[in-house]
Amino acid sequence: MKRLELKCRECSAWYPAERIFICEKCLAPLEVVYSEESTITKETLESRVKSMWRYFELLPVEDKTKIVDLGTGYTPLIRAERLSEKLGIDLFLKNDTVNPTLSFKDRPSSVAVTKAVEFGDNDVCCVSTGNLAASVAAHAAHAGLNAYVITPENIEKEKFAQIIAYGAKIITVEGTYDDANRLAAIASLRLGWNIVNITTRPYYVEGSKTIAYEICEQMNWNLPDYVVVPCASGALLRSIHRGFKQFKDKGLIESIPRLIGAQASGCSPLVNAFRKRSFEIEPVRYPKTIAKSIAIGDPADGKYAILSIMETDGCMEEASDEEIVDATKLLASKEGIFAEPAGSVTIAVTKKLIDLGFIEKGSSVVCCVTGNGMKAQELVLHNFSPLRVKPEIESFEKKINSRVN
Ligand SMILES: Cc1ncc(COP(=O)(O)O)c(C=O)c1O
Ligand SMILES: [Zn+2]
Repeated sequence: MKRLELKCRECSAWYPAERIFICEKCLAPLEVVYSEESTITKETLESRVKSMWRYFELLPVEDKTKIVDLGTGYTPLIRAERLSEKLGIDLFLKNDTVNPTLSFKDRPSSVAVTKAVEFGDNDVCCVSTGNLAASVAAHAAHAGLNAYVITPENIEKEKFAQIIAYGAKIITVEGTYDDANRLAAIASLRLGWNIVNITTRPYYVEGSKTIAYEICEQMNWNLPDYVVVPCASGALLRSIHRGFKQFKDKGLIESIPRLIGAQASGCSPLVNAFRKRSFEIEPVRYPKTIAKSIAIGDPADGKYAILSIMETDGCMEEASDEEIVDATKLLASKEGIFAEPAGSVTIAVTKKLIDLGFIEKGSSVVCCVTGNGMKAQELVLHNFSPLRVKPEIESFEKKINSRVN
């Protein structure tokens, strides 16, 4: 039987696997340790369910019957033929836009809502730039729990539509994500709310590392030179690193790809810190970018994301809104994958790092595309002008001819 414990990331103090998230001794974050040797091997994986739950032994859930799963994970890893040729690299796209609520957040929220069921909760809550909120709302609906989501008020209307449809109660905060996050942290202390990405964060973050496991399997255990990951709180990048490290410790892979963190120029506190090779992250008070999902000015896991990048000899880079829009269009028109800006920022940053000479021509690169363009439609709709015709062939021919000629 799997046994879980929590361990401090900084001072290595041990704790029972309860609803705690910071070390009493040094206030650093806690992380899950698995006592049982896992039975995951290349052979045992072959016959398993094609979802993130194929890695059950390495996920922080004890009772398989309690899993709340909408079919998340084992998303396609696609070779980008046209973009590879255009960019001069061997590019693969980890397409997490096709998860049940259209973003990678289904991975951590499937774990978090399962954990809420294990803890016997009736309610779940999260603080979110939109994607986590939609995902927690969907998983809570599936599990029969009440969901409360706290978001900044300026998130995309498509994300509100999802959350409303799943029946969650929405609390919007007049301020930034970081204002909402501070408020949520206080609510968790004063009102005892289970805010999954705060109070059960050690468990929640574990879901995201399944992206790394899947990349190992889907690349047939021959890992790419680089993996490019969008960064907001930094948790996703750190979790992906942890996933690769766990598979390396098990002897399943020999080395870990160099990790690249991608941010938007209007909110790039991690890029700024990394350029100074510093763990002192200066918060961005007022983020300003179209990549709203990654507009987090004060990243909770920032230090750990930078550490992961340094350990793998990677780097961090930013892209402007204009570069992100271009990358979104490029990805959609060349490869048929429509991403939201927080997803296509990895393409924009990859392009930039090739131009800067950091990514050498001929390298193999996996870009994580983490959110779907249907969640941020304004970006492509705002200057939409179709060829308008009357429902008659004469009008059709006239317009077509005038446009073509
Ligand atoms: C689509 C998308 N990609 C990437 C991220 C970054 O995740 P993290 O906060 O773990 O760095 C987010 C965060 O909300 C997101 O919504
Ligand atoms: Zn500690």
